[in-house]
Amino acid sequence: MAIKKIITYPAEVLEKQCKPVQKFDKKLGKLLDDMYDTMIEHDGVGLAAPQIGMEERIAIVDIDNELGTIEMINPKIIKTSGEQNGPEGCLSFPNLFGEVTRPNYVKIEAYDRKGKKYTLEAEEFLARAIQHEIDHLDGILFTTKVTRYLEEDELKGVESE
Ligand code: CO
Repeated sequence: MAIKKIITYPAEVLEKQCKPVQKFDKKLGKLLDDMYDTMIEHDGVGLAAPQIGMEERIAIVDIDNELGTIEMINPKIIKTSGEQNGPEGCLSFPNLFGEVTRPNYVKIEAYDRKGKKYTLEAEEFLARAIQHEIDHLDGILFTTKVTRYLEEDELKGVESE
């Protein structure tokens, strides 16, 4: 396990379309473990592979709920509905927070580290975090979706991913 350096904006790798994972091997497991350590070290609620310099469709989310750490490999959004507007931060943009509007509900299909396909439904903050991470895999940064940047006195409890 290792803590990786987080790539901050601007960096080419953050705006790339990431490539699907082909091999579900030990190396993938190690990468996921490193991503977890890196996310925890930086108090994040999610992390995507390009944020540690890897152009691969791998992301994790952990909002400290009963689901634990959600590992998403080659994730796809298959359904969304509703709308939510809330604060968001990104580990690749230190000290930058903004309001982003996203669907309130999301259903995804993804693979776990063993290559087993699963579906997951999420709402509210978890849905927001999942969508933020999947955006990273398509090179889409939250700053392209911010409707209003937050002031310092509005940042209490806002987490980065
Ligand atoms: Co981010």
